[in-house]
Amino acid sequence: MSPRPAGGRCAPPWASPEDGGVSAGDGRGEARANAPIPDLAPPPRLLMGPGPVDADPRVLRAMAMPLIGQFDPAFTAYMNEVMALYRRVFRTGNRWTFLVDGTARAGIEALLTSMIEPGDRVLVPIFGRFGHLLREIALRSGAEVTVIETAWGTVFEPGRIAEAITRHRPKIVALVHGDTSTTMAQPLAEVGAACRAADALLYVDATATLGGMAVRVDDWRLDAVSAGLQKCLSGPPGSAPITFNERVSAVVEPRRHIEEGLQGPEYHPGSGARVQSNYFDLAMLMDYWSEARLNHHTEATSMLYAAREAARVALEEGLEARIARHRLAGRALVAGIQAMGLGVFGDLAHKMDNVTGVVIPPEVEGEAVRAILREDFGIEIGTSFGPLHGRIWRIGTMGYACRKSCVLTCLAALETALRHTGHTPPPHAGVDAALTVYRAAEA
Ligand SMILES: Cc1ncc(COP(=O)(O)O)c(C=O)c1O
Repeated sequence: MSPRPAGGRCAPPWASPEDGGVSAGDGRGEARANAPIPDLAPPPRLLMGPGPVDADPRVLRAMAMPLIGQFDPAFTAYMNEVMALYRRVFRTGNRWTFLVDGTARAGIEALLTSMIEPGDRVLVPIFGRFGHLLREIALRSGAEVTVIETAWGTVFEPGRIAEAITRHRPKIVALVHGDTSTTMAQPLAEVGAACRAADALLYVDATATLGGMAVRVDDWRLDAVSAGLQKCLSGPPGSAPITFNERVSAVVEPRRHIEEGLQGPEYHPGSGARVQSNYFDLAMLMDYWSEARLNHHTEATSMLYAAREAARVALEEGLEARIARHRLAGRALVAGIQAMGLGVFGDLAHKMDNVTGVVIPPEVEGEAVRAILREDFGIEIGTSFGPLHGRIWRIGTMGYACRKSCVLTCLAALETALRHTGHTPPPHAGVDAALTVYRAAEA
């Protein structure tokens, strides 16, 4: 309970002495409030959850580079380089390929709020938590949303999405590629073709797959795609690479408005409805990232450095080699999990290569295992949401943490944690099975 100081006014909750806040009277609270806060010393961890995962040291080094002004020619050159690098990462010729500042959902929100005008019909096929997120953002943007759903742990037959497109005639289809909540990856190529045939725009959330699984924007005719840095691209959360084609810019351009105070004499506002968000107004972002360099937000300098380095690292490895590395780690992890007598969640034919759902044996307390992994081994694996809460762990093998040593260490630690919590897997079976997969690939 917060003390009631003289004068009868209630102390605000932040003034509670328990919280180190200032309480009236004896001065001890004040001393506590002024106590030095220690240096940052995050505990060393191997991050093998569904993201964030360990950042590549090169990305962290890039973030330590000095700041320069956002209109410094050196910085605008970096912006252009980022656009060129992400065209290659997204495998697209799209002119409009740039960063939205914020975590992955900032990219989702910028694309959807700018593509959707109130009353537009949007179809959202939902196969996990992030489909629900797309639905919510579409609803907030004023769309008339129709959803189709499939059970968590499955994906849609592409024909089912095509049929829903024909029935509902949406302006936009919004779809997740790899949904980390269920570990499933929705095949996209046929959906792209179905959207083109019905003249619908296809938006895809590739947050969890870009840089780790194939995402072929142009080949698959994806009109708009967003991602994040903190999964297969091995950067910190806080920058969302996006790309969109001219079918999308044709929808956004008529909504172009320039902020008061920046308008020149030639300015004529677009005839379309103004995008309801200023920060996520794609037309304004396009003006900022184009030669016009019209001031909008202050680009997040260190995050741009991070995104630039993350893309360079991915492209230096080669996208195909990187995808193969993720596929191999996923196969080795699944072999190890199964050899320990544990179930792998969901439809294995459509499982993401980079995230694996492990069914928690009924005799084991899932959080106790996670605590042992974290406290004794310094390894983080993920819990799960909604209908899967308490039923599966999610193990990520992504980006910098997608290495043979990480997979083997994680399996060895998991075996011990299981033994301490009531499930006894055959000794060494997990590590041996994973190693066999790696040895075969290396032969
Ligand atoms: C598929 C997918 N979409 C969107 C998000 C949201 O990303 P963020 O938390 O970076 O905003 C996540 C995060 O886990 C995700 O896995």
